[in-house]
Amino acid sequence: MSIALFYGTTTGNTGDIAEKVSEILEDIDLFDVADSPVSILDNYQKIIFAIPTWDYGEIQEDWQEIWDEVSECDFTGKTVAFIGLGDQYGYAEWFLDAMGLLHDVVVAKGATIIGHWPVEGYEFDESKALTADKKSFVGLAIDEDCQNELTDERVSAWCLQIAEDLYA
Ligand SMILES: Cc1cc2nc3c(=O)[nH]c(=O)nc-3n(C[C@H](O)[C@H](O)[C@H](O)COP(=O)(O)O)c2cc1C
Repeated sequence: MSIALFYGTTTGNTGDIAEKVSEILEDIDLFDVADSPVSILDNYQKIIFAIPTWDYGEIQEDWQEIWDEVSECDFTGKTVAFIGLGDQYGYAEWFLDAMGLLHDVVVAKGATIIGHWPVEGYEFDESKALTADKKSFVGLAIDEDCQNELTDERVSAWCLQIAEDLYA
């Protein structure tokens, strides 16, 4: 069964990460939210959402366009993983907030979440993308601005981590 990877990107970083994930995991169908109808999600039981944070904790602009529609989707019975992009030094008070906001919307609509990621190795003040115990992010945390040398390793490890749940 194929997996939908829905991403939005302004300067291309999230698009690059989406490509990398699609080269590692099998059966990924890539969709840029800027030109993909949200109704595509109806065809998938397994979904990865990739979203960067912009403008002090805001959702990336293409995600903003479809936000209301995504909020109306029923994710009951679906398995969802998240990838967030941000800048932990430049925007330490809002690190990856958009991933947390999207996570909350999708959880409220019944999704089963996979792919939490440990906070070790990151430096930031606050983030809306943390689990309740604050020991993990709700999805893969990527920082192309400050730690791009760690990206390949992080993406590979996370893909391995979620593969079991995705292909079960
Ligand atoms: C004007 C501006 C505002 C930003 N605001 C945030 C922010 O609030 N939180 C955060 O974690 N990253 C923030 N970032 C960093 C971006 O999320 C990061 O550069 C990301 O890789 C961009 O992804 P994209 O190329 O897919 O759009 C900001 C970057 C810029 C240039």
